Amino acid sequence: MNLTVSLDAKDEAPLHRQLYGGIRRAILAGRFGPGQRLPSTRAMAQSLGLSRTTVAQSYDDLISEGYLITVRGSGTFVCQELPEELLRSRPSPSVPAPQSAGKRLESNLSRYGRSLAAPLHFELARTNAPISFSYGHPDFEAVPFREWGRLLSRHCRSGSRKMLDYADDPLGHPPLREAVARYLGVARAVQCSPDQVVILNGAQQSLDLVARLIIDPGDAVALENPGYPGSFHTFRSQGARLIPIPVDASGIAVSQLYRHSKAKIKVVYVTPSHQFPTGAALSLPRRLELLAWAQQTGALIIEDDYDSEYRYGGRPIPALQGLGEGDSVVYVGTFSKVLFPSLRIAYLVAPRKLVPLISRAKWLADRQTSYVEQYALTDFINDGSLERHIRRMRTLYSSRRQALVRHLNAHLGSRATVIGENAGMQLMARISTGMTDEQFIARALGCRVSLSSAGHCYLTESRGGEFIMGFAGLGEKSICEGVRRLAQALDNPPRN
Ligand SMILES: Cc1ncc(COP(=O)(O)O)c(C=O)c1O
Repeated sequence: MNLTVSLDAKDEAPLHRQLYGGIRRAILAGRFGPGQRLPSTRAMAQSLGLSRTTVAQSYDDLISEGYLITVRGSGTFVCQELPEELLRSRPSPSVPAPQSAGKRLESNLSRYGRSLAAPLHFELARTNAPISFSYGHPDFEAVPFREWGRLLSRHCRSGSRKMLDYADDPLGHPPLREAVARYLGVARAVQCSPDQVVILNGAQQSLDLVARLIIDPGDAVALENPGYPGSFHTFRSQGARLIPIPVDASGIAVSQLYRHSKAKIKVVYVTPSHQFPTGAALSLPRRLELLAWAQQTGALIIEDDYDSEYRYGGRPIPALQGLGEGDSVVYVGTFSKVLFPSLRIAYLVAPRKLVPLISRAKWLADRQTSYVEQYALTDFINDGSLERHIRRMRTLYSSRRQALVRHLNAHLGSRATVIGENAGMQLMARISTGMTDEQFIARALGCRVSLSSAGHCYLTESRGGEFIMGFAGLGEKSICEGVRRLAQALDNPPRN
């Protein structure tokens, strides 16, 4: 047997891994054929000038991965079937697809499948402009990764079986449900006990599961107009009849709900703390009116409190859920905004009767939310890190919002009006552009800055000239430069 392995003491990889690599490569290249006997560890150690332990360690690794096999009393041999062969399926001869296959597939689609035939907004909205007022995400530079990494690695090292296995309970890690219930009681005046808290993969999953449990095709769902497109798509895909309800400076016009009494509205979806996208806060009289309407009609209110942590003036407005008595509200919140969206952890507070159904729906959808992250997040909340982080972000985002408003005033003057509350991670601005939103956005892109029209947030025809501008992820310099470029896009667009 002829083995040439270059071993380098200065290499980062330890010698036994270098030797392992050399033998594995020789096996895969066919230089050691199946069934061939390897030199004894002693002989190999002598010929390579290594210790026997080093050689034995490489052999052990290759044995445990299925490249080598030890036959007692005879020695170590290359396996007849290598792991690469066992893992790779042979390509099967391809059968030419009949022309009609695509058509047949289309006609086989479910109502849900057909509802997804057209691209959704998120697919159309991507740009790579150097300055982007994209919204929905926090400042990634400020994510407390060191702390987060420490907690994750502590739990990974613990290797607890409970953390690794399918969960006993799809509703979430019980200590996290307790921590969320405590947090919501204090920060949002939500009235709940931990058994009403469900941990899910995002507020979007909360909407999806609740929609599936409540809505049958043809049922009426009232939605804020303009509103959160993710809610439109979710309810529409369940076959709901969508009823747009206008929004003004005090939030959703609750009186309009009464006008639709014939429609028998089953669900109303609202963002009362910080209406998406207008930024209005639902006034107290309207909150009470909405709760009374729900009590009277038996409709369910879905309260999406997606970024309520970020209010920069006045006292926080308590959640609608905590104001009402009874079972009219499903409360939804997320860690996507206060931590980061790819974490995919959110929570829902449900009336008790719904909880077992949500548990079963969650189990059917995806079993559970990842447990390692749930363990880490429990510690992150309980040791006060979450509240500290939110306090820091509140200061940061408040100053970024102020900067954006200041620069809009300075560069666009009376052509721009900021609407909505002093809150959140994005604001809505009315900008008189004298052109369509698409034309303005294209001109802005020409000036290497991007922003979104609020047009896609309307269920009815949009009025145009309304733009959503995210500021949480942009430093003040970029905000200033971005707005200056928007002014340039209005006044002196670059020639193509
Ligand atoms: C109003 C609103 N609700 C829900 C979501 C979805 O949040 P999650 O990331 O938790 O699914 C978003 C995301 O941007 C949102 O803007």
